[in-house]
Amino acid sequence: MVNLYICYTTHTMIVLGIESSCDETAAAIVVDGKKLLSNVVATSMDLHAAFGGVVPEIAARSHVESIIPVIEKAVETVGWEAIDAIAVTYGAGLGGSLLVGVTTAKTLAVTKNKPLYAINHVEAHVYANFLTETVLSDYKLPDNPPQFPLLALIVSGGHSQLVLFRDHFDYTLLGQTRDDAIGEAFDKVAKIIGLPYPGGPSIAAAAKLGDPYKYKVPKAKLDNKYEYSFSGPKTAILRLAQEIIGEDYTFPSFKLAERLSGAQKNDIAASFQRVAVETVVDKTMLAYEEFLPKSVVIAGGVAANQELRRQLSDKIPIPIEYTDPKLCTDNGAMIATLGCFKMKHDQPAADPYTLQINPNLSM
Ligand code: KG4
Ligand code: ZN
Repeated sequence: MVNLYICYTTHTMIVLGIESSCDETAAAIVVDGKKLLSNVVATSMDLHAAFGGVVPEIAARSHVESIIPVIEKAVETVGWEAIDAIAVTYGAGLGGSLLVGVTTAKTLAVTKNKPLYAINHVEAHVYANFLTETVLSDYKLPDNPPQFPLLALIVSGGHSQLVLFRDHFDYTLLGQTRDDAIGEAFDKVAKIIGLPYPGGPSIAAAAKLGDPYKYKVPKAKLDNKYEYSFSGPKTAILRLAQEIIGEDYTFPSFKLAERLSGAQKNDIAASFQRVAVETVVDKTMLAYEEFLPKSVVIAGGVAANQELRRQLSDKIPIPIEYTDPKLCTDNGAMIATLGCFKMKHDQPAADPYTLQINPNLSM
């Protein structure tokens, strides 16, 4: 009995996370919700670049090709025997893409006889911040995990949300975008001014060479103090670009880029980035003042943005620890980490015979 007890308390929890909600096929192994053992990501981004955005059919086909090799590579580090559970993204995301990850995970759960945890992709983005240790050499992780109450700014290509976590699995959505997600706005503005997909990193690189105060970009004013909108600023950039080249609103947007100089593109990128980042940072600051959380974290692809990190650290009066940019964009590590916490907190496992995808899953 004593031996069993010791064995139970010292047993580590090893979870395989599988992610396929958009254009990244990813798998990772995480121990106890804090230590990253492997993180494998295959992206079909290059195949979408020619179209200026993710093509769902191409993404789904790429997942089919990559998912087994990606999982095998991630599992190599520990072997199947050592794995305690499988966690998989079942929403939100593209239907065809989610199906590949969920079907694979269900099959593995049954054949390898492991419990299966169904993971909300957006919630999982926040959990990338709980990783504080790794055996991988090229990752810079925070020294400490975040503490509750925890204010999370989730900024990705599909979501822009401000969420207050009182504890694990006990959270309130304070506000979100009314229309476009911030990452989507970065991608669309990049397209208007002819910068390559994905737009976020392209805008960030161009913005470094531009003047962030050169152009005035309007901010939407909304009744709910935690809500925001990126559709207005995006249209404002379209009108601004037309004005700069001396044309009116009838000028086709796809011809704009060739008429703008490099310097004009850099100034537009810098001005848009400053205002987009200010918008979400100001909302985060308001929520910080109202709820006085112990930790503030940022999550999602746009959390890799250095200007966002700079503005947030400038304004929020508590120190903010940022995770490695590789863990901000879609990955399996965040899925495995949330899977560990679900297991640790006795959250119900999913039935591998009946689990369905949920493309419109919300927080
Ligand atoms: O979280 P993510 O990988 O996928 C979704 O769940 O949507 O986020 C992708 C988004 C894209 O819109 C991309 O342009 C944006 O994150 N992104 C960035 C940066 N890196 C990626 N946006 C701004 N600055 C960056 N450095
Ligand atoms: Zn994501």
